[in-house]
Amino acid sequence: MSNNLFIFFFSSIFLSLPILHLSSPSPSPSSSSYDTSYRIDCGGHSDFVNNFNISWLSDRFYTGGANGLVSEPLLFPHQQEKTLRYFPLSSGKKNCYIVNVPNGRYYFRTFTVYDNYDGKLHPPSFDLSVEGTQVFSWRSPWFEEISKNGAYSDLFAFVNDGEADVCFYSIATDPPVIGSLEIIQIDPLAYDSTSTGDKLLLVNYGRLTCGSNSFGSGFSNDTDIFGRAWESDKEFRVGNSGQSSIKVLTTLKNIVGTNQKPNHFPMHLYQSGVTVMGKGNLEYTLSVDAKVDYLLWFHFAELDDSVTGAGKRVFDIFINQKNATRIDIFKQVGSFAALNWQYTVKNLNTTDLRVKFVPVVGSPLVSGIENYALVPKDLATVPDQVIAMRALKQSLRVPDRMGWNGDPCAPTSWDAWEGVTCHPNKDKTALVVSQIDVGSQGLKGYISEQISLLLNLVSLNLSSNSLEGTIPSGLGQKSLVRLDLSANRLSGRIPDSLASNLQLVILNDNQLEGQVPEQLYSIGIHGGTIDLFGNKGLCGVPSLPSCPLFEGLSTAGKITIGSACLVVLVVVFVIIYLCYIRRRRNDYDFGLPQDLISLSAKRNRYQRQKSLMLLEMETQNTHRFPTTLNPL
Ligand SMILES: *[C@@H]1O[C@H](CO)[C@@H](O)[C@H](O)[C@H]1NC(C)=O
Ligand SMILES: *[C@@H]1O[C@H](CO)[C@@H](O)[C@H](O)[C@H]1NC(C)=O
Ligand SMILES: *[C@@H]1O[C@H](CO)[C@@H](O)[C@H](O)[C@H]1NC(C)=O
Ligand SMILES: *[C@@H]1O[C@H](CO)[C@@H](O)[C@H](O)[C@H]1NC(C)=O
Ligand SMILES: *[C@@H]1O[C@H](CO)[C@@H](O)[C@H](O)[C@H]1NC(C)=O
Repeated sequence: MSNNLFIFFFSSIFLSLPILHLSSPSPSPSSSSYDTSYRIDCGGHSDFVNNFNISWLSDRFYTGGANGLVSEPLLFPHQQEKTLRYFPLSSGKKNCYIVNVPNGRYYFRTFTVYDNYDGKLHPPSFDLSVEGTQVFSWRSPWFEEISKNGAYSDLFAFVNDGEADVCFYSIATDPPVIGSLEIIQIDPLAYDSTSTGDKLLLVNYGRLTCGSNSFGSGFSNDTDIFGRAWESDKEFRVGNSGQSSIKVLTTLKNIVGTNQKPNHFPMHLYQSGVTVMGKGNLEYTLSVDAKVDYLLWFHFAELDDSVTGAGKRVFDIFINQKNATRIDIFKQVGSFAALNWQYTVKNLNTTDLRVKFVPVVGSPLVSGIENYALVPKDLATVPDQVIAMRALKQSLRVPDRMGWNGDPCAPTSWDAWEGVTCHPNKDKTALVVSQIDVGSQGLKGYISEQISLLLNLVSLNLSSNSLEGTIPSGLGQKSLVRLDLSANRLSGRIPDSLASNLQLVILNDNQLEGQVPEQLYSIGIHGGTIDLFGNKGLCGVPSLPSCPLFEGLSTAGKITIGSACLVVLVVVFVIIYLCYIRRRRNDYDFGLPQDLISLSAKRNRYQRQKSLMLLEMETQNTHRFPTTLNPL
C-alpha cells in the first residue's frame, strides 16, 4: 500500500460554493448515545465554535512537533484549516495524536494541507496510520490543487484499547503535517459490521450525494450525526450521461426511514436524486487502489409523484461490467422512502470502479453512492508489552528524537520505535518486542521493573548510557540471550533471576556489588561470554575477591541473622538493666565500655566487678547503646 495515495479530497473550491438551503422539516433528531467527539484544530491556539455551531478544540493530544500557518490563510474558508502541526525530525520519526476515548467505533477525519507553510516549496512525504494500521500515504510532489487547498480524508475504525491514535511516519527527513483532526463516535453496527467484523477499517473512496451540492461537516448546517461529509456527484458522472441527458430530482418532502440506527443516513441525502432523460444509462467512475476489496453502498428514494406502483421504474446495477442486482424502488419501499443496497467488490484488478445503472423500465434514479476500501486491521503489539515499552520510555527517559510514540511495533510496514526490533508472535496474531538496542543514547534514567513483561525479549543493549538504580529482578526472562548493560552507573546486587538462558552478559564498568550468582558465572564456563570487570564490589566467584561473611545470603538468611542479633541485644539489654537496677539499689556503679568511660568517670569513681563475659558483650555493642546506658 505504501505507494498509493489513499486520499479523497474536497477542494476548497467546493467549500466556497453557495450552500444549498432546503427549508425541509428537520428530521426529529434521534437521541444519540454517540457522546464522544473531538474536533482538533491542529496548530490552533484557542477553542472556538464555528458558524455551523460546531465546537473545535485548540491543538492538544499530540506527542511532539510544532505549530505552523499556511502561507495564504485568507484563502481558507474555515478557521481549523489555516493552522497546522508539523513534526520535524527532532521530534522523532514517528509521532501521534492520542486521545483517550471509550472503546467503540469512530469516524476519523483528517485535513491535510501544505500551502508552502515552511517556505521550502516541498510538500512532504509521509505515511499516516489509524489504530496502528497504515491508511494514507502522502508522497512528494502532491497534486498542485491538494498542496494548495488541502484535502480531507476519512474512515471508520474500531477502538479497542481505550485510546484513539493517529500516527505519522516521516519518509526520509520530511516533516509530516496535519491541519485538523476529527474523531467522532458512531454506531458500532453501522455499515453492516456484524458481517464484516471489527477487523476492517472502512476508508472513504467516495461518498457522493447525487443531484445536490456537497453537504454535511464543513459544507452546510445539515446534520449528519456521524459527522460525515457528502460530496456532490457531478465530477464522477461518466461520458454519455453528460449534463444534457441528466435530470436532477429534488424534494422538500419528508423521506421515510432516514436517520435511523445504526447508519443514521441523513434525510437530505434522499431529498435529491439523479436520473436520465430518455433511454440512456447512468454511469459513474470511482478511482480506487486495486489491492483491497471495496464495499459499495447505494442509496435510493422514489422522488417522482408519477411513479405510483411497482414495475414503473426498474433498473439493473452493473459493477465493472458485472450485473449485480435489479432494483425496483417502489416495489421494495414505496415512494418517498429510503432504500439501501450494498455490494462488496472482491479481487478488483483495475484502478477504476465503474458503476452503471441500466434501465429496464423507465429511467434509473439514484440518490447516493458510498465506496469504502476494506483495509484489514494490522497486527498490534501485545498489550502487556506496550505497557512495558511505555514504562521503559519513561524510566529510561528516552529522548523525543527517538520517536517512541504510539504502538512500539505497528504498523508492520513502518520501522518499530528507533532501536527496537519486533516480530509477529508464534500464531501471527500480535507483535512482540524481540530486541532493544539503545546503547550510547545519553539515557539518564533507570530500568523499569516492567521490563519483565517483555516475554519475547532476546537481546537488550543499554550500554554506554548513564543509567542508575539496580538491575530489575524481573530481567532474565527465559527468552533473553544477550544482555549488555556495560558502562552505566548501575548499583546494587546482580539479581539471581539473571541466569536462565543467557549466553552473553556484559556488565562491566558499573557500580555493582555483592555476590555474583553462581548460575550466572557458570555461563562463562559453558562457553558463553561474561564480563564483570570494573565494578564496585562484586565478589564470590573465581578471579573476584571472596565475599565477606554473610555476603551473598538470601534475604531470608539475612532476616534470620538479623533476628538472632536482635535477640542477643535484648538479652544484653535486660542483663544491663538488671545490673543497673542492682547498682542503684546498692549504690554500686558498673563500668562502661571504653569510649564512654571518660563521661561516666566524672560521676563514678567506684571500680566495678563483673564477669568477663558481660564486659565483652558490652564492648561489642557499645556503639548501639550509648544513650540508653547513660544513667542520667
Ligand atoms: C447554522 O444554523 C445556526 C442556527 O441553527 C445559525 O446560527 C447559523 O448562522 C447557520 N450557519 C450557516 C452557515 O448557515
Ligand atoms: C449550539 O450548540 C449548543 C450545544 O453544543 C446548543 O446548546 C445550542 O442551542 C446550539 N445553538 C444553536 C443556535 O443551534
Ligand atoms: C441482472 O441480475 C438480476 C438478478 O440479480 C436479474 O434479475 C436480471 O435479469 C439481470 N439482468 C440482466 C440484463 O441480465
Ligand atoms: C480483470 O478481471 C476480469 C475478470 O474478472 C478479466 O476479464 C479481465 O481481463 C481482467 N483484467 C486485467 C487487466 O487483468
Ligand atoms: C551495544 O551497543 C554498543 C553501541 O552503543 C556497541 O558498541 C556494543 O557492541 C553493543 N553490545 C553488543 C553486545 O552488541
